[in-house]
Amino acid sequence: MPEITLLDRSHDRAGFDCGVPELNAFLKATARQHAQKGISRTFVLTDGTPAILGFFTLTLCELYSEQLPPPHARKYPFHGLPAVRLARLAVSRKEQKKGYGELLLAEAVHRTALIAEQAGVTGLFVDAKDDAARQFYERYGFRAIPGHFLQLFLPIETVRAAN
Ligand SMILES: CC(C)(COP(=O)(O)OP(=O)(O)OC[C@H]1O[C@@H](n2cnc3c(N)ncnc32)[C@H](O)[C@@H]1OP(=O)(O)O)[C@@H](O)C(=O)NCCC(=O)NCCS
Repeated sequence: MPEITLLDRSHDRAGFDCGVPELNAFLKATARQHAQKGISRTFVLTDGTPAILGFFTLTLCELYSEQLPPPHARKYPFHGLPAVRLARLAVSRKEQKKGYGELLLAEAVHRTALIAEQAGVTGLFVDAKDDAARQFYERYGFRAIPGHFLQLFLPIETVRAAN
């Protein structure tokens, strides 16, 4: 039964390969350090063994109202808007196309709603790696930021509605 938990030393980080070297390297070398330092948190999907099927990383960021897709920009007339940032999302190459990416994204959206309840955030922001990743996020209601084709935003109303 797949489960999503905080990354810890029992997980096989070295055995993970999503086909993107920077994402593999982040999981292997940086994710736990960043969690310890309070920079971000990484959650892994496993089937109860040390193997990592996929992972995502959340952190916080600050957005300017001009960075939001209209009509959200009009709603927030000031700068320095708090948001959650989906800093990484990846599924192991041999486990792709089985619905795990969707499962991880749903968990990231759920955790964004929890953060919003405690601290208040305007939504979930993501920097898509490429056009394919952009299309993946758009399926789930993320909207591109004007002039920034690969930067997408899921407004807090959509985050709440999904929870
Ligand atoms: C993008 C990624 C996370 C998707 O994970 P996945 O487990 O293969 O995706 P899922 O099986 O949950 O797919 C969910 C839906 O999105 C679609 N989808 C998956 N990858 C897609 C892509 N690259 N582009 C467009 N749509 C995609 C699937 O077809 C599926 O739709 P369907 O149910 O109608 O068939 C995965 O391919 C990956 O890790 N890629 C390498 C790293 C990467 O690009 N990460 C994004 C960082 S910005």
